[in-house]
Amino acid sequence: MSTLQNDLLLRTLNNETVERPPVWMMRQAGRYLPEYRVIRDKYGFFERCQTPELACEITLQPVDIIGVDAAILFSDILVVPQAMGLEVQLIEQVGPLLPQPIKNSNDINRVRVPDVNETLQYVFDAITLIKKELNGRVPLIGFAGAPWTILCYMVQGKGSKTFDEAKAFCYQQPAVAQQLLQMITDTTIAYLKGQVKAGADTLQLFDSWGGLLSKGDFARWSLPYIKQIVAALKDEVPVIVFAKGAWHSLSEMAATGAKGLGIDWCIEAATARQFAGDNITLQGNFDPAKLLSPAAVIKQEVKEMLQAFGKQNYIANLGHGILPHVPVDNARAFVDTVKEFDWSKV
Ligand code: CP3
Repeated sequence: MSTLQNDLLLRTLNNETVERPPVWMMRQAGRYLPEYRVIRDKYGFFERCQTPELACEITLQPVDIIGVDAAILFSDILVVPQAMGLEVQLIEQVGPLLPQPIKNSNDINRVRVPDVNETLQYVFDAITLIKKELNGRVPLIGFAGAPWTILCYMVQGKGSKTFDEAKAFCYQQPAVAQQLLQMITDTTIAYLKGQVKAGADTLQLFDSWGGLLSKGDFARWSLPYIKQIVAALKDEVPVIVFAKGAWHSLSEMAATGAKGLGIDWCIEAATARQFAGDNITLQGNFDPAKLLSPAAVIKQEVKEMLQAFGKQNYIANLGHGILPHVPVDNARAFVDTVKEFDWSKV
């Protein structure tokens, strides 16, 4: 039995009948909020992640300020490569930088599958604190990057439009790549189990760069590892898989036992439903840049999205993370439109 006051998200993921779909926004704890920027100006990025009181305060901001139906842990997918032994920096205005990326089998010796209770305990402490402060208001989403996306950063060493060096690593040294992906997978399973133990109510896997792979390459370099992670966690909490751009593999991802699938704005609701099947929850898929439209346009387009997805087995969200220059009122218009929609007509 749930002790949450608002358990729309969990009931939806459980295929239950709901009064309306839950709504949250990927990257909802971030720079578009003035309250976030105040904290950002005082503390470094990983200092914010590693200090449970700061991570907790930032996690709660969108719940208090925007009124979303779920909190998502404030952290980053790159704390995993960090825990595995790689240096990770976050450069203001530029993005992630890993000064000594993995290039060959020798470099693999510089990373390890760590004891997550030593290296990532600060995340578990943050979750424990967040759960206490949330006090049952809304569920807490834990998360990690999918192994392919983590490999992208570990090999490329920085953000990229193509992640060509990461691809070349897989294509030229497949056995080494598989070894690295398995190490990331083993770390991620232990890490997510720790998040659940600390109190995460559900988990999302972010495969932000899954869409850079062909269907065949996604089946080889991403899906098998996602499958292992979902299999290891699915009996503990519902798992949402978001592989941006990998619409071609929605059916295969549904078959992993995931309870939710994230989709971006490049696929229509009906097509996604056809690929994913009827027994899974779809999450998405508002173009984040559309939040830069006038409020009336946002409202109209959100309503069209809600009508297209329907009331059940659906989580209203963006199709990727909220952009830093979105006005707070526009984010609120997105969330309010979902909450105020007349669901009796759908
Ligand atoms: O959703 C949330 O509000 C929770 C927090 C969260 C962050 N990163 C905080 C963050 C989550 C879920 C992430 C996931 C993440 N991190 C992904 C997957 C989701 C996606 O957007 O594709 C990826 C690829 C990363 C790696 C990463 N972290 C990048 C590429 C960047 C730089 C680009 C950017 O948005 O600035 C980060 C930094 C980062 N992670 C910020 C935040 C709020 C911004 C830096 C700052 O505020 O100082």
